[in-house]
Amino acid sequence: MSVAPEIENLLHETRRFAPSSEFVADAIAKPELYEKAKTDRLQFWAEQANELHWHKPFTQVLDWSNTPFAKWFHDGEINVSYNCLDRHVEAGWGKRVALFFEGEPGDSKVYTYLDLLIEVKKAANVLLKLGVQPGDRVAIYMPMIPEAIIAMQAVARVGAVHSVVFGGFSADSLAARIEDAEAKLVITADGGFRKGKASPLKPAVDEALSGGKCQTVENVLVVKRTGNDVDWTSGRDMWWHEELGAVETEHVAQGFNAEHPLFILYTSGTTGKPKGILHTTGGYLTQAGYTHRNVFDLHPGQDIYWCTADVGWITGHSYVAYGPLANGATQVIYEGTPDSPDWGRWWDIVQKYHVSILYTAPTAIRSFMKIGRSVTTHYDLSSIRVLGSVGEPINPEAWMWYRDVIGGNKAPIVDTWWQTETGAIMISPLPGITATKPGSAQVALPGIEMAVIDDDGNKVGAGHGGYLTITEPWPSMLRGIWGDPERYKETYWSRFEGKYFAGDGAKLDEDGDLWLLGRVDDVMNVSGHRLSTAEIESALVSHPFVAEAAVVGAKDETTGQAVVAFVILRRSHMDEIGSDADTSKILRDHVAKEIGPIAKPRTIFVVSELPKTRSGKIMRRLLRDVAEDRPIGDVTTLADTSVMDTITGRINAGAND
Ligand code: WTA
Repeated sequence: MSVAPEIENLLHETRRFAPSSEFVADAIAKPELYEKAKTDRLQFWAEQANELHWHKPFTQVLDWSNTPFAKWFHDGEINVSYNCLDRHVEAGWGKRVALFFEGEPGDSKVYTYLDLLIEVKKAANVLLKLGVQPGDRVAIYMPMIPEAIIAMQAVARVGAVHSVVFGGFSADSLAARIEDAEAKLVITADGGFRKGKASPLKPAVDEALSGGKCQTVENVLVVKRTGNDVDWTSGRDMWWHEELGAVETEHVAQGFNAEHPLFILYTSGTTGKPKGILHTTGGYLTQAGYTHRNVFDLHPGQDIYWCTADVGWITGHSYVAYGPLANGATQVIYEGTPDSPDWGRWWDIVQKYHVSILYTAPTAIRSFMKIGRSVTTHYDLSSIRVLGSVGEPINPEAWMWYRDVIGGNKAPIVDTWWQTETGAIMISPLPGITATKPGSAQVALPGIEMAVIDDDGNKVGAGHGGYLTITEPWPSMLRGIWGDPERYKETYWSRFEGKYFAGDGAKLDEDGDLWLLGRVDDVMNVSGHRLSTAEIESALVSHPFVAEAAVVGAKDETTGQAVVAFVILRRSHMDEIGSDADTSKILRDHVAKEIGPIAKPRTIFVVSELPKTRSGKIMRRLLRDVAEDRPIGDVTTLADTSVMDTITGRINAGAND
């Protein structure tokens, strides 16, 4: 595998930031963690699992006999919601704040652990009243408001399975996910506040359920957030507040098998169809809790933790809805965007709540960097003591800015690598132990075994790059793809015998630290969000104007990667098609409608041909060269070697302006 020259330069990074002695003295993670996990990995995980409350204790840690379908703690019984709420209240922490909610318009609300428990119990009783049974699927399509977390917790409490669909996805994407999971119930809101406006959600649910689609859905539970008018289907739709007001407040959580499904979360893969990643109960909560405690050095009752992710993504599951609550943390959630009403909003929130642990994505950091350090001048950020990064590689420049401007040159940065599929953090420094290195996620956590390997499956040595693989099962690993066990085996376990292949390239430096190189497959990473080239291509060709489409992820200063599309238009529609600029707008809007605004291509090039090999495979590598505006690489394997001249000729002639 070749490694880009700019990555080679990174590997000469010599800056190191060792933890301060004060930090070390009080740190949650101690160096013995590594030793313990090395000595007896399964015993180590059993100890982590025993931090939780088990309705019935487990006796076997791992059953890996039916590889690659793991069972962790599988003769134990556990209730996720009991672990996140009841046990803290029973331990006398009912008055501790669980959530500080900050709405975008400036409204706010505080929930103690007791308040949250009462709401979750009521919501659980509503689910039972609506006939939701253990194992039934519930779709959640909501803004970032407390009810989203309450809904997830309530679904988990009754042993049902949630599928949270990010509120930015279109009605079509929502319908496809509801249909794939055969959801019985949809929980949504009238809308949420975004960029200073009420942004509706319920209409997308109505559209998703219209025209005979999503026949499995019996009810829609609607949270009133914006107060906007909504269409109502009586008998099907019900208001959340009315239903919660009409049920008992008591609900006793029962234990479910540790391998009982907890949630499905759809994510993009290399094909046009999103995959429903399946997670189960005991192992997932074990690793979400363990990583949240150790990676962020969480001191419950002292720290104010804020993860800026939306519950629509895996980070919002493991590090908002589950990990922090399992640990009894006090956290902030914010409904809106960082620039509303201005780019000071996040820093205002940090100051207001004295946030001590902040977890966000490099894209956000780069957006603030563009504005400059003045963005924080009016705010007191001295409460911050740990900073986290997730979702994409963080370049050393952004890392240093984060450390300096946000972390006051003292807060350790944890660059955390993981995936929807891994369920929880896998690679990260541990604050208080690791001397951090700008731009490197560093080493696998205690209990996690990974290897960078070459094409033949051999481990690469220091200074070399290869494919990132996970060599031993881990508790929060995905248990499969919903409804498609074959696809699970094929996607993750077939390329290298006995190893999970993550789809990422990585390089080991001379110290044995890992540097993530981004995806080596056709998955893009835009602002830390996963998008599939195939999915956007199929959205483009579903438009009548488009005969063929090829999509690549091109480097972008702010968003990491940006979607760039190359389309060939249909001759039969030429008389309806206007200028390239008009076409581009029509097609961008079409992609937003089909998938959601996050998938909109940044640039669309109208071309007359696409570069293909003799076997008809599109050579995305060459299109990436065009999209990133650099000389075109080797074209000798193209069926027609002049194609690239035609493409660049047309683009340079300004036909696409
Ligand atoms: C990328 C997000 C570099 C990676 C939690 C992975 C990262 C994909 C990092 C998963 C990181 C995530 N450094 N790259 N710290 N964290 N990635 O499923 O390519 O939305 O495969 O999970 O994001 O994205 P997903």
